Amino acid sequence: MNILLLGSGGREHALAWKMQQSHHCENLFIAPGNAGTLQYGTNVNLGINDFEAQKQFCTDNKISMVVVGPEEPLVKGVYDFYRSDEQLKKIIVVGPSAEAAQLEGSKAFSKRFMQRHGIPTAAYEEFTLENLEAGKTYIASHSVPVVLKADGLAAGKGVIISHAQDEAILAFEEMIVNKQFGDASSKVVIEEFLQGIEVSVFVLTNGKDYQVIGHAKDYKRIGEGDTGLNTGGMGCVTPVPFMDDVFMQKVENRIIKPTVAGLAKENLVYNGFIFFGLMNVEGEPFVIEYNCRMGDPETEVVMPRLETDLVSLFAAMDNGTLADTNIEYNEGGFATVMAVSGGYPGEYEKNKPISQLADVLMDKSSLIFHAGTTLNGAGETVTNGGRVLAVTSSAATIVEAVEKSERVLEQISFEGMYYRKDIGYEFE
Ligand code: AMP
Ligand code: GLY
Repeated sequence: MNILLLGSGGREHALAWKMQQSHHCENLFIAPGNAGTLQYGTNVNLGINDFEAQKQFCTDNKISMVVVGPEEPLVKGVYDFYRSDEQLKKIIVVGPSAEAAQLEGSKAFSKRFMQRHGIPTAAYEEFTLENLEAGKTYIASHSVPVVLKADGLAAGKGVIISHAQDEAILAFEEMIVNKQFGDASSKVVIEEFLQGIEVSVFVLTNGKDYQVIGHAKDYKRIGEGDTGLNTGGMGCVTPVPFMDDVFMQKVENRIIKPTVAGLAKENLVYNGFIFFGLMNVEGEPFVIEYNCRMGDPETEVVMPRLETDLVSLFAAMDNGTLADTNIEYNEGGFATVMAVSGGYPGEYEKNKPISQLADVLMDKSSLIFHAGTTLNGAGETVTNGGRVLAVTSSAATIVEAVEKSERVLEQISFEGMYYRKDIGYEFE
């Protein structure tokens, strides 16, 4: 079949790499893609939110499956657009309906959903301009640290963790009154701080059946030793030693099963990934957030570890046979290390030529996924984002995999290039 993949990051490069290995995949198109996705398909100049343009493209190119990488088109209703169009409704769309995508698109929606279905999460209240004073009083008597979350999508920046009530009240007013995150922060969720280790679990579900397809631990801070500003993710490892059968059973029984049952009960139409962002609090899992898509850079380790054919899984999800499929994993440890532009996550420059990329010596156990690259007029690969390259390796252990990725990165350079040299440090 012909497949259209929406997105342009490392996640999409890894999904393209995986899907292109499937015998079901004839022609793969990536909109808009990056300099790396060209290895596995054809980049097409279509906007991820331009559903009308996608319609024409899908019709012209006999597309049978659309895989949605990022959350924005999902929250904007890409699934519903295809489903309600006579010409497009036979296309398998991998992603939830707009209504179900609110699990990611609105923190208040997801918190209420978790409450209705008894899913463990931090205690919370939600506030708007109308009950601003009540919010301030709530914060004043809240324990610290206290977590403030803009309700809507805020490009990963909408969460503030505050260590003092007065500071939290100022931040709260900044969000609601001064619209720090625009409409996204016209409603704010205030929640209890959970102390623990963050991990993510990835599930495919059609709202009835589900399969766990992997898990990962990411490293969010820019600096070594988990210091400095938050980023989209500087590296990832899988499998995580403490995510053993005992922990995963708790995650399935207390979190995944009630979530999928909740989708069914509330008639929330789902046909895609759920990314469970979890906190492991002394061996007990809590949900920090839901995302309605795969993670980036989590996908860059989850896909290489997954042995099962991904396109077959998507088809099984769509035709109701997901429960009968087997999930197989490749052996060993997997790690990705992200090379970023100088200045990231603050301001950074683009269009820096990346040297050596074509000549890097690797065996098959390392893969370079492009996160933010493009081709310039001279056909050179240049930087085009904060996160630039994710280098994934597999080895007997996570630590050896990290070392392999670092060896590859030592052979690559671009002006201002930076990467953390301590990914997976706690597993040494
Ligand atoms: P989110 O956008 O919900 O993923 O939040 C961003 C980050 O804030 C998470 O990845 C956590 O590191 C942190 N965070 C969010 N909620 C909590 C919480 N209740 N307790 C502790 N840390 C949190
Ligand atoms: N790495 C976190 C995310 O994709 O949201």
